[in-house]
Parts: sequence; structure tokens; C-alpha cells
Amino acid sequence: MSLQLERVDVLIIGAGLAAVTVALHLPQTLNVLLVSKREVTRANSDMAQGGIASSYLEPSSVDHERDTLVASKMAAIPERVYMLVEEGRSAIGDLERFGVVFDRDGAAYAVGREGAHGMNRIFHVGGDETGRHVMATLRRQLPDNVTVMEHVLIDTLVKTDGCVSGATGYNGETRLHVQAGAVVLATGGIGGLIDWTSNCRSVTGDGLVLAEEVGARLTNLSRIQFHPTLLAVDSPHLVTEALRGAGAMLVDSSGRPVMAHHPLGSLAPRDEVARTLTRHDGPVYLDTSRVERIKERFPKLVATCDMHGIDIRRIPVRPGLHFHMGGVDVDADGRTSVAGLYAVGEVADSGVHGMNRLASNSLLECWVFGKRVAAAVTVEEKEKPFTVDETTVYEISVDLFSRYRQQIGKWLTISPQIGDITSFLENTHELPQTKHVSRQLSEQTLSLKAARLLAHAVMRTEASNEQNRITRTVDSIFT
Ligand code: SIN
Repeated sequence: MSLQLERVDVLIIGAGLAAVTVALHLPQTLNVLLVSKREVTRANSDMAQGGIASSYLEPSSVDHERDTLVASKMAAIPERVYMLVEEGRSAIGDLERFGVVFDRDGAAYAVGREGAHGMNRIFHVGGDETGRHVMATLRRQLPDNVTVMEHVLIDTLVKTDGCVSGATGYNGETRLHVQAGAVVLATGGIGGLIDWTSNCRSVTGDGLVLAEEVGARLTNLSRIQFHPTLLAVDSPHLVTEALRGAGAMLVDSSGRPVMAHHPLGSLAPRDEVARTLTRHDGPVYLDTSRVERIKERFPKLVATCDMHGIDIRRIPVRPGLHFHMGGVDVDADGRTSVAGLYAVGEVADSGVHGMNRLASNSLLECWVFGKRVAAAVTVEEKEKPFTVDETTVYEISVDLFSRYRQQIGKWLTISPQIGDITSFLENTHELPQTKHVSRQLSEQTLSLKAARLLAHAVMRTEASNEQNRITRTVDSIFT
């Protein structure tokens, strides 16, 4: 098999906003390689609809901070939330200096609203196509010291003397070794592990596995967010929460509001809406009759509904997998517990989301913490020995892999059953391994390992929830 060798100062794994923000802010004296598993535009950031939350127009970041903490169920780290919202105040101006043009109503910014925000503070571009426009603009600004390689799968991180010194994988089908002075994981979340998701299919938790295998600490893996409104058709599409911010209401088939019990109604925190919709008997719709200028403000949604023959006035929706709050444990500058390895964006557990991420805080997180990582990266000596161990992968057919994917889809849900998790873990416990690596087998192996990490975490959480329920019941009988 042919081998490609690269030697760089910084290797960034990923191509979404977290990766691009780091690349844009690293010193231009560094030689940077940014690798993307598919085409760069197939990142979750490119699909972002709602926009970027920021208190740019408010007298202070206090209200944004409170909304973020409350949505997190007070489980976010207050100091990190403060960093996010306070440093996030300048994000809008920063992005404009890079050429991003936010939507306006006349002279004023056209800020939108989403669930659990106390006011309108979501900046968007091109209506519901924020991600596509922001990413295209920023990628055009990448300086010459940044090389972008598409169709690169990284399957292993290399460690020398306790410090990450590079990575191996595939460029297309060619084996690739990258020796690097520092490695930044920006691989995104886990949504692509199953079909019923708002995420790109290629986003399959690779960074969790890469980090875990070099001994990095992972935290809060069972904190997984489900978005209340994916279009209820065969292939899932996100229906942005900004639509509810613009007046759309969640109703049942008779037109009755399904969130009437909550003081914030259809704009309640995302986890609460998703749980209510999951328990609801019968179909749920977004009634958009009160949304003004829907075609102009939500062009992508209108085109998607047209494509599926759906009446835009009454859109069928159901919850689906959306975001991973847990991930690789990092400090405030994205350092993991292993020297030379950084993590940023959804792959990282930055501590700002707690149990439930506030809407449109994720692009903000990528920008704020991407800048912090770029400022913190220390490039280690590149000339260190670079020893690559022999790689082994699971030897399983594409058919068997797709059966395992279906099993993952059964438990990676808002209400997982312990029996489904246990079966998956048993079935994938001792899979045959081979040293005859191929890109296909490497990709499948990463996905299954990521799913197993999550399965263990979700099972522990479900088991302890169950234990708490039993204790509460017993206590209530005997008191
Ligand atoms: C949405 O537009 O509803 C998703 C935004 C987000 O997840 O932050």
C-alpha cells in the first residue's frame, strides 16, 4: 500500500466552524493542515439554520448568561458560560470583519429568537441558511499557511513520550501519516451514528475514539440533545427553532397547542419540548399561520417542504438526535488531559451546555473557544521520533455494520431501553479483528467504538436514574 507523509506544525481534524476558527486565528508563521473526512462543505456547521446567539446588542451579557445556565439545568460551569457569553459579545463584529453580512430589517439587525431565550438575540445570514453563508465566507479567508485536504479519514493519533505527535489515516484510499507539533480535534458530534438525526452522516464521534485511545479523559458522554422538530418524512431535515421564534406553534392534529402546559409554550427549552413531543400520542405539526414573510425568512425550509409536497402552513414534525453536550474534557483553552492534544466545538465538553444546550450557542462556542485554542496552542518539537504502531480494525462486512447501525438507532434515542443497549454491547463485544486495514473498515471501526463508548455511558446514567426512581418510590412508601 502506498504511503503519504506530511510534516506540519498544527494538524486540525475537522472542517466546521470550530476547525476554521482555529485555522483563521493561529499565527500565520505556522504551517497548518486542516483535514476533512468528506468535502469541507459536509460539516454540521454548514447546515446550521437558526444562527449565532450573542448579546452584542444588549447592555450586558447577563441575560444571555442566565438563559444559558437555566437551559443547562444549572449543570453548566458558570465561569465557562461567562466566557462564552462575554467573549461572544464581540463575535458578531469579529465575523463582520471577516466578511460575514448578517441579515437586517432596514438598518437594524434582524435578530431572531429560539427556545429558552428571554429575548431576540439570534443573528442570522440568508434567513435559515446561516451556516452555509458563514462557512463559505470564512473558508474564503483562510490564509496561505493553511492547507485544506478533503476526503481524509484520521483513524489513530500517535503519541511520543506522553505527547501527541501526529496522526495516521487515509487520504482517499492512500495511507497517510501526519507528523505534527500539535493536534486539534474538531470532529463534531455523534449524530451521524444513526439515521434519525439532524446531522451530516459523516459526523460519527471519531474524535471521542481518537482521544480515548491516547488516554484523554472523556466526560458527560450521556448528555445528548434531541431537537424537537425534524421534518417527519422519510429522510430527516431540521426544522429550525427560529420558526417557533417567529410565531409558529406546535399543535396536535386538531390544532390544539401541545405545549400549552409550559409558561414558554412552544418556545420552552429544547429538551422539555422534545420529551413532550416524544410522549405525545399522535402526530404533531408546526402551525405557521402566524409567521410573517415565511418564504423570505425561511427559504431553505420552504424549498424542502415543496420538495416533499408538504403544506408549509402545517408542517409535520418529530424529535431527532441533534447535539452532544459531553465529549473530550478540556480546560478553558481547549487543552485535553493529554499533552499536544486540543479539542474544540461539539467534540469537546467545554462545560458551557450542561444537561441541555441553549439554542444557537453552538456556533458561538466554536468561535469563542476556537479563538482561545488558537491562542493557546503550543507547537512541540516536530523532529521527535514518530513511531506508528500496527493498526488493527474490526473485520465486519458492510451488511453486518449496517445491522449494528440499526441497533444503535434503537437505543440512541430520547428514552433508551437498557435491554437494547445491553444487546448492542453484547453483540459488538468481541468482534473479529484484522491487520488488513482499509478505509471502509477503519470508518466502520471508529463508528462502532464511538457507539460503544456512548452505550456504556448511557447505560450507567439510565441505571442510576432507575436506582434513584426505586429509592424515591421506597422512600415514599416508608415515610
Ligand atoms: C435550530 O435552528 O433549531 C438549531 C439551532 C441550534 O441547534 O442551535
